Formats: sequence, structure tokens, C-alpha cells
Amino acid sequence: MTTGIDSTPPASAGAQNGVTPRRTLRVAVVNGSPNEKSKTMGLVDVVLQTLARVLADDGVTIESARIDTYRLGPAFTGAHEREGVAPEIEAALRRAEQADLLIAATPVFRGSYTGLFKHFFDLVDQYALANKPVLLTATGGGEHHALVLEHALRPLFGFFQSLTVPVAVFASAGDFDGTTLLTPRVHGRIEMAITDVRELLVARATVT
Ligand SMILES: Cc1cc2nc3c(=O)[nH]c(=O)nc-3n(C[C@H](O)[C@H](O)[C@H](O)COP(=O)(O)O)c2cc1C
Repeated sequence: MTTGIDSTPPASAGAQNGVTPRRTLRVAVVNGSPNEKSKTMGLVDVVLQTLARVLADDGVTIESARIDTYRLGPAFTGAHEREGVAPEIEAALRRAEQADLLIAATPVFRGSYTGLFKHFFDLVDQYALANKPVLLTATGGGEHHALVLEHALRPLFGFFQSLTVPVAVFASAGDFDGTTLLTPRVHGRIEMAITDVRELLVARATVT
């Protein structure tokens, strides 16, 4: 059955360095793209790889769950309130609400996040994301709408009283070969976004 949630076991970067993993950062990615081959997810793949590498030295492993909103289907798009949602939709919402780190990922559509992306967060509990680290990521056809991160995404997570990571990450069509992120500048920005909050993420990792 297609659930819209794709979970990966903890990345093993820590073990490769001979460091015994002690803690796991449970990451949930909420993907607002309607495309199976998605530049936005290509960007997120680099974020997840960078997280695993940067936190490996602290003995923290990464466990990620990817929630593809477009795969959640009519039970998701037809839901108007949280109460009574189908079990698979409830499971996806809880994965996001219970994560140690949330990665918000969306293409820019008409100068904002996609409708699918917003609809997911319309169903998230009003207080479930308070004090939760949230990394903001987006892709667009060009550079002109890069500030959608600051004008649309950051205020949304301000409503939720989340701890948005200060550096948000944007990439546009020219930064990709297909869905593979190439541009060194964007790789560097991802590195900066994560290293800036490294101590916070280590502290938030779940003891395993
Ligand atoms: C309906 C629609 C609206 C779009 N609106 C914008 C826009 O306002 N600004 C922009 O930079 N790109 C816009 N785009 C381009 C997408 O944001 C861009 O191709 C994005 O990287 C696609 O991400 P994905 O491959 O993860 O789906 C739009 C694309 C579609 C299909």
C-alpha cells in the first residue's frame, strides 16, 4: 500500500569513522512537490547527507522519514480537520509532529509554497511544532522568488512557534542536472545552515 511515508534506517556515517553511535536524530521531511522526480527532493538529499556527515563526529546518526504529500491521496486532500483523518494520514502527521528535526521542503508555486504543502500543515496540531527545529528549503524555476523562504515559509512556522534554522536554503533550475544538485554555493549554504545549529541538533537527538 502506498502511504506517502518513506522511512530510512539510521545513516551509518558515524560507524564508518569508528565512532560508536549513541544518539539518533529523527528527521521528518515534508515534501510539497507533486513530482516523483523532484528537484526539491534532490536538494533535500544533499541536506540529509550533510546532516549525517556533520553529526557523525558527535556520535549522532540520522533516521529520516520522507512524507510525500502528493502520495497521500484523496483521504488527505479531502480532509478538512484533524479529527477522524484516515490512519495513514494520522501516521504521516505524527511522524512530522514527533520528529527531532523537521525539514520543510517545497517548490515555489505562484510565489509561495504549494497547496499540498500548506494543506499538510493545516492538519498539523497547532502546538505540536512549538520549540521544534525546522529547516526551511525550497526550489524555484529561477532566483527571483528565493525570498519565499522568508516571506511565506518562515511566517508559517512562526505561527507554530517553531525554532526555524536561521539559514534557509534555496536552489533554482540552474543549480541542478536533472534532480542532482550541482552548485557548490548551494552545497556550502547547506553546510552553513547545519553547522550553525549543530549543538542544538546534537542536544535534540533521541538517546537510543
Ligand atoms: C504551477 C507552477 C507554478 C510555479 N510557480 C513558480 C514561481 O512562482 N516561481 C518560481 O521561481 N518557480 C515557479 N515554478 C517552478 C517550480 O518552482 C520549479 O520548477 C521547482 O524546482 C519544481 O520543483 P520539483 O521538481 O521539486 O517539483 C512553478 C511551477 C509550477 C508547475
